[in-house]
Amino acid sequence: MHASVSATMGGPIFTDYTMSKHAVVGLMKSKSKQLGGYGMRVNCVSPRPVVTPMLCRMSGLKAEEVEKAFERSSCLKGVLKLKHVADAVLFLASEESDLSLPTSKTSVLTKILICQDPCTPCPYPQRNWNGKVAVITGGASGIGEATAHLFADHGARMIVIADIQDDLGQQVAKSIGTEKCMYMHCDVANEDQVKALVDSTVRTYSQLDIMFSNAGILSASPQTVLDLDLTTFDRVFAVNVRGMAACVKHAARVMIEKGVRGSIVCTASVTGSRGGSRLTDYCMSKHAVIGLVRSASTQLGVHGIRVNSVSPSAVATPTLCRSFGGIDAEQAENICERFSSLKGIVPKVNHVADTVLFLASEDSAFVSGHDLVVDGGLLSKML
Ligand SMILES: NC(=O)c1ccc[n+]([C@@H]2O[C@H](COP(=O)([O-])OP(=O)(O)OC[C@H]3O[C@@H](n4cnc5c(N)ncnc54)[C@H](O)[C@@H]3O)[C@@H](O)[C@H]2O)c1
Repeated sequence: MHASVSATMGGPIFTDYTMSKHAVVGLMKSKSKQLGGYGMRVNCVSPRPVVTPMLCRMSGLKAEEVEKAFERSSCLKGVLKLKHVADAVLFLASEESDLSLPTSKTSVLTKILICQDPCTPCPYPQRNWNGKVAVITGGASGIGEATAHLFADHGARMIVIADIQDDLGQQVAKSIGTEKCMYMHCDVANEDQVKALVDSTVRTYSQLDIMFSNAGILSASPQTVLDLDLTTFDRVFAVNVRGMAACVKHAARVMIEKGVRGSIVCTASVTGSRGGSRLTDYCMSKHAVIGLVRSASTQLGVHGIRVNSVSPSAVATPTLCRSFGGIDAEQAENICERFSSLKGIVPKVNHVADTVLFLASEDSAFVSGHDLVVDGGLLSKML
């Protein structure tokens, strides 16, 4: 469906148009909830103004004049073209977005080319990722590990995995191939270590194109408001909030220094946009990640740097299995599947990795400040 950014804000004129686009989003949310049970996905694309014959007629201006005017009002330098919108439709129409069923409220999403399983060779044409250097924090396990494999399959020049699980991190680097992937110990809660990670990456590989700031931990106990343990609260914030902020800060600094129009992707969560009956510190930390992404995208767009987040619902990773009482991945997957409106698909780490690949690649060239939810329609159902 075709909505518009007018579906997320009001304006001084065009009341009927704005209302109609809000209605499109309402239709999308209702239909996604109703049709998910049949395995059907419903999404909409919401472009900001893009030059079309209709818009030129309406404004009485030439295409280049309209483009210039729009460029001035965008945080991200560059011009939105029809191709960006078509890319978004292709992404949402394809199986690459097969766990995305939520409302999308930012400018434009585009297609993603994926590998269905991190361990099998990519069945799709690879993007031109040759030469790209990426850092992935929390890359020794779960979502970060799957994303490292996917980046490698798409031809990244070097992937630096940063984690505190040294043995696992080394194993992941070895399984990808040490010519394409290296492991570095880094506790993201320690800013000096984050700076050292970024500086050493740039010193060794000359640049940094992608920062996937993904390392995160869950609450150590139920952490309801009444029983909040502020010591473990501090550790959740040190990793999930302070750590994310340090990664974004140091990655952006070197990207600017090297003149790289880089992409920064942070892992937030569906808990970043709603409350819950427990895990208060975790929920607060993920809200903070979305605040960081919104602020950083606004401030860094002038340098051509994009900042987005990916928000999974529940996917069976070691952390999640532990939090469900030490059950195995298959049992955890059965539980995760129940949260989704979309039937017939089990949420996997590669669904999240696919989304990160999209946000990290040129396919999302005009997407910044966006929180892309990968939840099989969970949030739409709850709102
Ligand atoms: N699995 C889910 O259902 C889910 C849902 C929403 C969001 N997330 C988020 O996804 C991200 C990845 O988690 P995952 O589920 O893949 O779990 P995971 O445990 O498999 O991976 C997390 C990785 O982060 C690393 N890590 C932890 N603390 C660190 C630190 N201080 N410095 C560096 N690395 C550190 C861990 O060693 C681990 O390798 C987290 O930010 C998590 O909050 C997960």
